[in-house]
Amino acid sequence: MNAQKNQDSLRIVITGGSSGIGEAVALEMAKSGHRFYLTGRNEGRLKKVCDSLETLGCEAYFGTGDVGNEEDVDTLLSDVKSKLGGIDVIFANAGVGYFGNLEDLTIEQYDKQFNTNVRGVFLWLNKTLPLLKGQNSGQVIVTSSDLGLKTGARCSLYAATKHAVQAMVWSLRDELKGTGVKAATINPGSVNTQWFDGKAVDRSKMLAVEDVAKAVRFIIDQDETSNIDHILLMPSKN
Ligand SMILES: NC(=O)c1ccc[n+]([C@@H]2O[C@H](COP(=O)([O-])OP(=O)(O)OC[C@H]3O[C@@H](n4cnc5c(N)ncnc54)[C@H](OP(=O)(O)O)[C@@H]3O)[C@@H](O)[C@H]2O)c1
Repeated sequence: MNAQKNQDSLRIVITGGSSGIGEAVALEMAKSGHRFYLTGRNEGRLKKVCDSLETLGCEAYFGTGDVGNEEDVDTLLSDVKSKLGGIDVIFANAGVGYFGNLEDLTIEQYDKQFNTNVRGVFLWLNKTLPLLKGQNSGQVIVTSSDLGLKTGARCSLYAATKHAVQAMVWSLRDELKGTGVKAATINPGSVNTQWFDGKAVDRSKMLAVEDVAKAVRFIIDQDETSNIDHILLMPSKN
């Protein structure tokens, strides 16, 4: 196992662990044990996911806060350190998506999207990397998107945030050379999550959260000799 040598149980931190992809990754990794700290803003849902992880025999904690708020991140990180004692995997996954023609998007949507998708990733990586580099091991995974690698109509702001984190991780990979710390992105196409609730779209043609979770597991479980850059995962039916 790459993320923490000679130890079976990894300390896995997931931002946006209360639902969707974050929840699915926690449940997938829980099949192999591990210890978890989940963050989000919805306390009830975080508790529910942690209860499921505990039912599977894992140690699981959660904390609430906004990923884009530095004070919240500091508080959560100090709780992570006291509960888990460190971090082997940081899955920076929290994100929001607003879609529409550029002229129809609002400045509020711009702020919320960049604060969550870009500032939130920056803050979590900025504050956890010293820990990982200090221990000379660890895996960073950021949820980007196929729209971190391409563009499309009605996706301008969302694609801009995902291109930003894609560039962040690719630059980081250069900085991490020789450190024993790895960084990768997961780049899914459309995934069937609450994002599409109430929308007139064919959800049967989307990826399932479990598909994404298996790809994230592949990154976490990779051998020491490999360093996955990104995984682009598209639905088979589209
Ligand atoms: N669904 C797709 O088609 C798709 C495709 C490619 C990539 N992605 C990416 O996948 C990631 C997860 O999205 P999802 O589809 O799984 O949707 P989701 O179920 O809505 O999950 C989003 C998660 O992010 C958290 N979150 C959102 N804003 C936050 C904030 N300001 N502070 C803290 N946590 C926040 C939410 O937690 P709370 O509600 O508890 O705050 C939730 O746990 C996002 O980065 C998204 O861009 C999604």
